[in-house]
Amino acid sequence: MGKASDTGCSAGSGGTWQQRRCECRRRAAQVLLAAVALAFVLAVYLRGPAATAGAGGLDPARVLMDILSAEQLRENLEYYASGAHVAGTNTTQADHTRSHFERQGIGTETVEYYPWLNYPVAQRVALFNASTGAVSFEAGLQEARVPGDPASDDPHNLPAFHGHSADGNVTGRLVYANYGTGSDFRALGEAGVSVKGAIVLMRYGVVPCAYKVHAAELAGAHGALVYSDPIDDGYGKGRVYPAGPWRPASSLQRDSVLRLDVYPGDPLTPGYPSTRDAPRLDPRDAASLNRIPSLPISHMDALPLLVALQGHGVEAADISRGWVGGLTSKGVRYWTGPSALAVNLLNQVAYRTVPIQNVIGRIKGWEDPEQVVVIGNHRDAWSAGASDPSSGSAVLLELARALGELGRLGWRPRRTIILASWDAGEYGLAGSTEWVEENIDWLRADGVAYVNVGAAVEGSSFRATASPALKDLLYAAAKQVAYPHSNGTVYDAWLRDSVAAGARGRRPAVQPLGPASDTMAFAVHAGVSAVDFGFAGSGGARHSNFDSIQRVAAFVDPDMQLHLAAARLWGQVAVRLADDPVLRLSPTRYAADLKRYIRQFERKMALLLRPPPKGPGLATERLGHLRAAQHQLEVSARIVEDSTRHLRLVYGEDCQMAGRRRHRTCLALRASINDRVSKLERHFIDPDGAPGREWHKHVLVAPDFGAASGYRLFPALADALDAGDALQLREREKYIAGMVHEAAWFLREA
Ligand SMILES: *[C@@H]1O[C@H](CO)[C@@H](O)[C@H](O)[C@H]1NC(C)=O
Ligand SMILES: *[C@@H]1O[C@H](CO)[C@@H](O)[C@H](O)[C@H]1NC(C)=O
Ligand SMILES: *[C@@H]1O[C@H](CO)[C@@H](O)[C@H](O)[C@H]1NC(C)=O
Ligand SMILES: *[C@@H]1O[C@H](CO)[C@@H](O)[C@H](O)[C@H]1NC(C)=O
Repeated sequence: MGKASDTGCSAGSGGTWQQRRCECRRRAAQVLLAAVALAFVLAVYLRGPAATAGAGGLDPARVLMDILSAEQLRENLEYYASGAHVAGTNTTQADHTRSHFERQGIGTETVEYYPWLNYPVAQRVALFNASTGAVSFEAGLQEARVPGDPASDDPHNLPAFHGHSADGNVTGRLVYANYGTGSDFRALGEAGVSVKGAIVLMRYGVVPCAYKVHAAELAGAHGALVYSDPIDDGYGKGRVYPAGPWRPASSLQRDSVLRLDVYPGDPLTPGYPSTRDAPRLDPRDAASLNRIPSLPISHMDALPLLVALQGHGVEAADISRGWVGGLTSKGVRYWTGPSALAVNLLNQVAYRTVPIQNVIGRIKGWEDPEQVVVIGNHRDAWSAGASDPSSGSAVLLELARALGELGRLGWRPRRTIILASWDAGEYGLAGSTEWVEENIDWLRADGVAYVNVGAAVEGSSFRATASPALKDLLYAAAKQVAYPHSNGTVYDAWLRDSVAAGARGRRPAVQPLGPASDTMAFAVHAGVSAVDFGFAGSGGARHSNFDSIQRVAAFVDPDMQLHLAAARLWGQVAVRLADDPVLRLSPTRYAADLKRYIRQFERKMALLLRPPPKGPGLATERLGHLRAAQHQLEVSARIVEDSTRHLRLVYGEDCQMAGRRRHRTCLALRASINDRVSKLERHFIDPDGAPGREWHKHVLVAPDFGAASGYRLFPALADALDAGDALQLREREKYIAGMVHEAAWFLREA
């Protein structure tokens, strides 16, 4: 009844003319709303029982789509992106988010944690002659101001900086290591270039920044510099900002260098929440922290460094053509070094325990209030962060308004919806990780799914990563949402892009969940099925001051229609997860994907274990135990599907055809199906975790930092394979197959 109270009526019952007129208007509004609700009921009735009729008798997913507004989205985006909001520095944005949720009638709390974060104090990158001390180059380490774009001129903007980087002042010869992957460092070794004691210059791309710094550290380097090469992200791609969307010469890509492959979140409280009084590790014992200082630099600052390498070591093109970047157009030839000149890298940072604010809204379900669907994104950004993550925050806020509006129409979800605006996402996913760690018990008991939209709109190409269980739901939702400026749906555009990118198959590609998303703690640690999606671009402003409202308005989404599509899609997925009588999580799809995982791993084994197998038990490169277990899972999944079909045919999804006597039977069957499909993922969680990285507990897939794909199938098996330990591989295979067998039994018997 929000509209009625906007008329300014006082609650008094006196009989003035004005009050009577108010009363009258209020009535009229009520009648209008009742008529709207009735129309929904009729519409649902006329469309037949297949439509999901919620408690208020309306199809919430449909109505939600109509409530969402591009204008509101723009307003939200302008709010979040109008000021810098690095984690721990802008509580105003947390308060704003909270009061917006509350205005929608959503019960909301701010949950604080106290992780160990760093902030930049002083930094320097300089080239000098080690014998004379003469300095020949000082790097700027600042992004230029762009006239007309206030975000580039915000006094709170940071200089060159890596979150969770090591404090230090180091000097050494410079070595160029391409993208800093494992194979890049091996190639340097084979070329006879030593990295010991050096400052390593690497370019962004292929693997996460944290991995590059770690790889440099492993190779014996004393410092790491990471720059954005114009061939990957800059003038090599197109016109640069502000003339175009690409990264200009001074642009810096800030990033986290926390080793999420060890564990994400607060480095001092692994596996448990960083509450105010939690016990904490000595930072020297925190295994997720890199030990060598690092900084991001622009390609403008990288250029003189590359020039200093010329003629020293090996010419990069002789290692591989893939080692040559785009500064060749400025006359640079890429060489490995080590350089004759020395580089001084100063990264002075201040670490402290900082309060961070997660904003958590809760819409209580009417049928299964203990069952929860969590939707969220991180709120903090390295600067204005218009695309990353404010586009996602804008969508979350608008979704809260639409859900509030649905509530005012009388609708409640069956299951509880939690809206989460995480803080410190840029610092190794701290907000979501600490929250999951604190709530792990009930999430394992009652978590249905987590839906993340981090950067909702960075470009126009839809992409998704997900647990196999959620793929079908995502496909169905994408078919319901129109793709802007086309006659097709998001699904159509997605399939087209996916095929163009080389995907085979009849459906768009959905990769397993990778490292850089707040889905991580849910999926990998708690075993809650999760999905992450958005409209992706291929770079241009990631983590720079130029990720601004102006840039979004000029080059990314001028009319906010992509934001609207993202909101509609997110709303569809969330409402269906929270309100479908029978959950659309698919064990059949899970079993099918597991089969693909097994095949894929077997191909890798065949490749790595030939010539002659080293140990016993490798007469064949087949994962026999896993294959057998997968078969059982497939059979069980079919049984669940049969029960679901039976339920629909005999009783109707809503048990509306069950009659009074059999209503209970129907409800019990439905609860059992829902329980089975939503807990399947939990059966792939090994409480002990993967050997060597205990926080990561999923046995089928783990985020992988060293691989371009971003994920690793059967992480424990892959480790054994890498170590060439066939016996251990077989042992672990049996163990995982046992877990899959148990999952299959659970699907059948629960
Ligand atoms: C915090 O964010 C708000 C809204 O974007 C902005 O107006 C304000 O300037 C920011 N505060 C700081 C300290 O940057
Ligand atoms: C960093 O090291 C350099 C070279 O050793 C030295 O000249 C400089 O004073 C140091 N800076 C700081 C802030 O310690
Ligand atoms: C350092 O300076 C000395 C003295 O001017 C010079 O001989 C030497 O070549 C310089 N080294 C480099 C790497 O430029
Ligand atoms: C959509 O369909 C209409 C009618 O077939 C056509 O004229 C129009 O060009 C189409 N628009 C796009 C963006 O494809």
